[in-house]
Amino acid sequence: MTAQIIDGKMIAQQVREEVAAKVTARAAAGKQKPTLATVLVGDRPDSAAYVASKGKACQELGMGSISEHLPADATQEQVEELVRRLNADPQVSGILVQLPMPSHIDEEAVLSLINLEKDVDGFSPLNIGRLAQKGREPLFVPCTPYGCIYLLETSGVKIEGANAVVLGRSNIVGMPAALLLIGKNATVTVCHSRTKDLPGVVRQADILIAAIGKTQMVRGDWIKPGAAVIDVGINAVPDATKKSGQRLVGDVHFEEAKEVASFITPVPGGVGPMTIAMLMNNTLRAAEIQDP
Ligand code: GUN
Repeated sequence: MTAQIIDGKMIAQQVREEVAAKVTARAAAGKQKPTLATVLVGDRPDSAAYVASKGKACQELGMGSISEHLPADATQEQVEELVRRLNADPQVSGILVQLPMPSHIDEEAVLSLINLEKDVDGFSPLNIGRLAQKGREPLFVPCTPYGCIYLLETSGVKIEGANAVVLGRSNIVGMPAALLLIGKNATVTVCHSRTKDLPGVVRQADILIAAIGKTQMVRGDWIKPGAAVIDVGINAVPDATKKSGQRLVGDVHFEEAKEVASFITPVPGGVGPMTIAMLMNNTLRAAEIQDP
């Protein structure tokens, strides 16, 4: 069997077009432009690249973007003051504080400050708490896990009743992905660095979400035949044939896994583009909540 490749770039493009059409319709109705404010603290090159691509996406979809940058030695008070200012700014629909922040910053305190109606990342404790509770709905679902579920559903993968294995328990991906899958009636196992017999557990998965940040760790013989595999990993490996001297690979050994799985996302071009598309969707939703 060779798996069907889930084209995240194409599916993300469709989401972006739907968002752009709604943004245009709001403008025609005289409503304020949905506007995303990003907050970058410090100079991590990966974080700087992520916030730049989020700002670029806003412009491409006709939305506004404001990018705030504080130095790596910014104080807790300065970061909190900035979030308070963005909370109070009626022009700002959504606030995204890029993670990780420098280690001296209390991340939870900063995320807790974000107005619930502007929490387009869905990382405030209240949004995550609602995601975790039966019969409650968060205002916003975290973008990367939301993108993973959207890819599964768009591809026709049945989540209800499936054995889902989530590799990784991060606040940004693994844990919210597990909560979303439970909410959709999958039976979920969350694996991490202390899990015993990882290959054996992964072999039970009808749906695998790999978000552990280990280059090509999941091998083909870990995959249950016919499983759907969503690879969240973005790992750089040396490649002398590339101008940059490197290329990106996932947490799954794609070439091996695609011979066993029924569906698989590539890296790049799988989950990556979905994260930004879902952020754009959440920013539009924020504007709709604030100005229906
Ligand atoms: N760092 C890595 N992924 C994300 C994300 O989706 N949102 C934020 N704020 N920071 C991140």
